Order: sequence, then C-alpha cells, then structure tokens
Amino acid sequence: MLVTLHRGVLCKSSNLGADGFLNLLQDRGWRACARYTSGVRKFIAPLAFALPLALAGILTVFGHNGGTGLTWNREISRVFFRRCAECHRDGGPAFSLMTFAEVQPHLGEIKHQVLNRLMPPWGAVKGFGDFRNDQGLTQEEIELIVDWIEGDARRGNNANALPPIPKFAKPSSFSKPKGSLDVQGDLVLVRSFILDGLFPERLEDGSTARVVAHFPDSHVEPLIWFNQYNQRFQHPFLFRQAIELPVGTRISGIPRNSTLVLLPGKKPAPRK
Ligand code: HEC
Repeated sequence: MLVTLHRGVLCKSSNLGADGFLNLLQDRGWRACARYTSGVRKFIAPLAFALPLALAGILTVFGHNGGTGLTWNREISRVFFRRCAECHRDGGPAFSLMTFAEVQPHLGEIKHQVLNRLMPPWGAVKGFGDFRNDQGLTQEEIELIVDWIEGDARRGNNANALPPIPKFAKPSSFSKPKGSLDVQGDLVLVRSFILDGLFPERLEDGSTARVVAHFPDSHVEPLIWFNQYNQRFQHPFLFRQAIELPVGTRISGIPRNSTLVLLPGKKPAPRK
C-alpha cells in the first residue's frame, strides 16, 4: 500500500485522498503521513483510484485484531537491533533500547526522533549523494516504528520470535587516508581526483551546507547536503560508487570556516 510521491517521499496510499478522508485518518492518529500530503494535493487526483483499494486494506488490518498486528518481539526488535543497538545498549554511548521494557518509557521521543530523521544520527539529507555507509532509516522502517507506536506498541506473546542479541565490534576509529585533500570554501581541481567519500573535519553544529561538483562539461553532481549537522556524531560519508572528478571540476558549497576532507578512492569499475 505504498505510493511514491515526488522527491521520494513515501506515503501510505490510504492517506491520500479527499480532504475529508485525510481528516478521518488524522482523527485516527495517522498524522505522520497526512502532514506530508498537504503540500502535494495537486498530485492526488491521479491517485484517487487507489483509494477504494486502500480503504479495503485498512478495514482488513483494523478489522482483524484491533491494532496494527506489529509486535516488539517479531518486527520492531529487528529494526532496533539493526539500526539503534550499536549505540543504544549497555556500554554504548547512549541509553539502552535493547528490550521492550527499556523502549517503553521512550515511545513518544522515539516517534519524534525517527519521524524527523534525527535518529539514527546521520547528519545529511537522504537522496542528495548516495552513500554506502548510510545508517538512516528507510521510509518503510520509519513507518513500521511509527505504526507500531501509534497502534498500542505491543510486545507480543511469543518470546521465541525475538531475534538473537546482536554482537558488536569495537567502534572503528577513523583516520584520514594518504592522498586526502582538505578543502575550505570553493575549490577548482588542478588535477583529477577519484572521490571515495567526504569527512567533515570541521563543521559547526547546526550547519546546513549543500556541496556540489560542477564538472568542466557543465554536468553538476550533488555530493552532500549537511543538515542540522552535529559534531558529536562526526563520521565519514562514503559514496556507494567512487566519483571521478576531472581537472577543472569546481566544488562549491563548503562554508569558508569549515574543513571538508575529500577522501581518495580507486577508479570505479565501469558500469555495466
Ligand atoms: C550512532 C549512534 C546512535 C544510533 C545508531 C542511534 N542513536 Fe539515538 N542517540 C544517540 C546518542 C549519543 C543520544 C544521546 C543520548 C544521551 O544524551 O544520553 C541519542 C539519543 C536518542 C534519543 C533521545 C533524544 C532526545 O534528545 O530526547 C532517542 C529517543 C533515540 N536516541 C532513539 C534512537 C532510535 C530509535 C534509534 C534507532 C532507530 C537510534 N536512536 C539510533 C546515538 C545513537
């Protein structure tokens, strides 16, 4: 029941429809997605056909067990173990969110943090640059967590459904590789550079900066869009595929009082 809107915002198709229908959903607490829809009403008309289907879906879900059917033991623990536990555990940098009992007192905060993409802390806007170490939640994971919280946040009765407790490697510390290039302000490359990733060595808290590569052939490649940056969560951003920057490429958008390190990589394999 997912429908893709412009800019990759995903909404349940059930949340799209005439205003009256939106209000009905809002009454049911489905505000999360309805919020997104207000700005995209003009996209709604072509989607109207999805409505009857979606309604049937809702009736099925609510009709059967009076809730979402999602439980901590089955679905939600898996998302938390995968996405939160690395930090939110005993001995980690943040309070533990490993068990149902530990999660329960924080439900309101968790909903706020995941809906606003504040947790897990990533520091950049999704979809602007493509990163292989992106820890941000997918839209589906966000919906899963929020639906679970809004639908009674049940634990479930079957403890056997819980996944095994994950093991954690020691956090790897990052050091700049040889051949890294420190950049402040705009830069025009005087030699070609294979860009594997970016490391914000110095960037003020709360910074927003959109960094873009302008190729000599006037092609423009989005690199990264820092948003509400928080130094506390400093980490490298590694591209899914290294980007070849030819001589003469101009990199713009790095604030003057900041240092962004360009991390060198290997020549990418030709795309198939
Ligand atoms: C990279 C480490 C890391 C990851 C991954 C992470 N967190 Fe956090 N989180 C933190 C730290 C550090 C804090 C601050 C803790 C403190 O102040 O004691 C925090 C704080 C929070 C808070 C409280 C925020 C506030 O200010 O009220 C919530 C809620 C939260 N995290 C939920 C989550 C959830 C849910 C996930 C997974 C979907 C997650 N976090 C993933 C590190 C992380």
